[in-house]
Amino acid sequence: MITWEALEAQCRQCQSCPLCETRRNVVFGVGDRQADVLFIGEGPGEQEDRRGEPFVGPAGQLLDLMLSVIDLDRSRVYIANIVKCRPPKNRDPLNLEQDACIGYLRAQTALIRPKIIVCLGRIAAMRIIDPKFRITRQHGEWFERAGVQMMAIYHPSALLRDPSKRPETFVDLKSLQEKIRVLCPHILVRDF
Ligand code: URA
Repeated sequence: MITWEALEAQCRQCQSCPLCETRRNVVFGVGDRQADVLFIGEGPGEQEDRRGEPFVGPAGQLLDLMLSVIDLDRSRVYIANIVKCRPPKNRDPLNLEQDACIGYLRAQTALIRPKIIVCLGRIAAMRIIDPKFRITRQHGEWFERAGVQMMAIYHPSALLRDPSKRPETFVDLKSLQEKIRVLCPHILVRDF
């Protein structure tokens, strides 16, 4: 299996799709490379592109808050995106861009071997859980794929645009916390 170092080096030099022409930085991923929980977003935004780290802009601040609500911390999980380079004007990543990039996420997932995968938003859920995934109907629902527990919650950007979705997301987060208590309680910052 490829090493983290080789994978990261390959990803940083990637020219497999046109996003490489407009990126400032490749946003590879951040967190514990042996994490039990993997969060998957859609793609870098402006701040992420500038800093080379996922979820460091406004959506990232909300994600950190969401994690803290269930006694999690970004250092104890791993955070990555479907595409590693910023789509111009934050548009949805095109299928050809996702196809060109998904191998990096697959390799990251194989190295991490998480017990739980949380998709942040529709784009990640459609790619990881089910191409027909309906985020409004299926957020918070648990799926199992090859022994890995998976669910999707609303993307933090969607929660910034529409705060009325926050109560439902709180319920989903509590369900995630419960799953973590069963599968990997040691990652919770306060372990009851
Ligand atoms: N939105 C995402 O999906 N990923 C990031 O890294 C930042 C914002």
